[in-house]
Amino acid sequence: MHLTREEERIYEGEEGWARKKAMEILVAIGDINNASKLIPIKSAHISGASYKTIGDAFEFINRLGIDVGIDNEIDRTVKVKSTLNPIGMDRERWNVMNVSNKFVAKQKEVINAYTKLGITAECTCVPYLIGNTPEMGEHIAWSESSAVLYANSVLGARTNIEGAPSALASALIGKTPLYGLHETERREAEIRIRVSVNVDRLITDADYSALGFLIGELASSKIPLIELSPSSFLSSSLSPSKDELKHLSAAIGATGSIGLYHIDIAGLVEVDFPVPSERAEIEEADLKRFYEDWDWDCDCDCDTGTEKGGVVIAIGCPHCSAQELQHIYELLSAESRGRKVRNELFIFTARAIKERMQETVRKIEDYGVKVICDTCFVVSPAFENYRCVITNSGKMLRYVPLLCGSAKVKLCKTEECVRRAF
Ligand code: F3S
Repeated sequence: MHLTREEERIYEGEEGWARKKAMEILVAIGDINNASKLIPIKSAHISGASYKTIGDAFEFINRLGIDVGIDNEIDRTVKVKSTLNPIGMDRERWNVMNVSNKFVAKQKEVINAYTKLGITAECTCVPYLIGNTPEMGEHIAWSESSAVLYANSVLGARTNIEGAPSALASALIGKTPLYGLHETERREAEIRIRVSVNVDRLITDADYSALGFLIGELASSKIPLIELSPSSFLSSSLSPSKDELKHLSAAIGATGSIGLYHIDIAGLVEVDFPVPSERAEIEEADLKRFYEDWDWDCDCDCDTGTEKGGVVIAIGCPHCSAQELQHIYELLSAESRGRKVRNELFIFTARAIKERMQETVRKIEDYGVKVICDTCFVVSPAFENYRCVITNSGKMLRYVPLLCGSAKVKLCKTEECVRRAF
């Protein structure tokens, strides 16, 4: 990979050890992927922020931010707007969560290590909803698969699926190697997936979670062109909402290894690449079967039972938007009939969104619901002792069994999640 004179200087360590290490990471990745050069980026988003998932590997990040024997005057902060993925606890209410003091202390060290480098500790997987919002065609370096898919596919930005180290390295240099999804010709669809689903019922966020899960499995590592048929999606609204696309993106990223999808609604969207010859289809029966598979009868009280039995309901994977919080409040007030929830219901969102929706959040919590920021069900150690987890998130279907003890997961529409909370 060609380096400019300025980049070579950094590679040689003339801007300090931290940037030298960052440049070494980018050069190694660029060389492996036959990148021709580095290109400037507008922003970075960095995963690997929860102590639960990163462990003591954060010591490396710590080291980047402290004096390692080089001139203290050297600036070691990031060169572009950089945000952080969820950590393992609510930064302000960790004491109401089931996390140990040791975990809290370690998590605070991780946050300090990142903030010392100038990274904003917003701790959310929806940076695009709180101001780190790339524009069409902008090059960025993001990790967190759901955010990568949303940025590439919905916003039209350009990023590869970065890992935490490469996103951090790009943040420190302000550049990323030019390869993969940064190149127009590498963004063409490779498989066409037709979705033909009848709407005698409303299409909801959970449907998009289910669809995304199935699409990710079918597409695997091929960029899909998703064709939504008119009969399936045009009855109530012309196109999926941003929240629905958020759910779709997260679920595709959970089962597929792709950073981009294209979506064509009723043949209305012109695609500027050849339509792929490989085809697949998702029908109503597939969706129905999917719900049956993921909402089984179990021996706990999550449906109609009479006593509490390790059931928890989790909404907010990815983190809830302001509109979703409002919708959940409306569902709670319709379902409540003067009652508080009897099963635990956790809602996860970004701190900036919670602050913007303060009044709604207060009313939601009046029903006995907990609205938690900075973290999520999957990356916090606080949620590992449940038997049954009910969610509207396709991503949680994949990750709860992997990262949250022995809990079983059920997929329900948001309305049903709220109903089961009562
Ligand atoms: Fe976000 Fe956690 Fe889900 S990071 S996408 S809420 S697993």
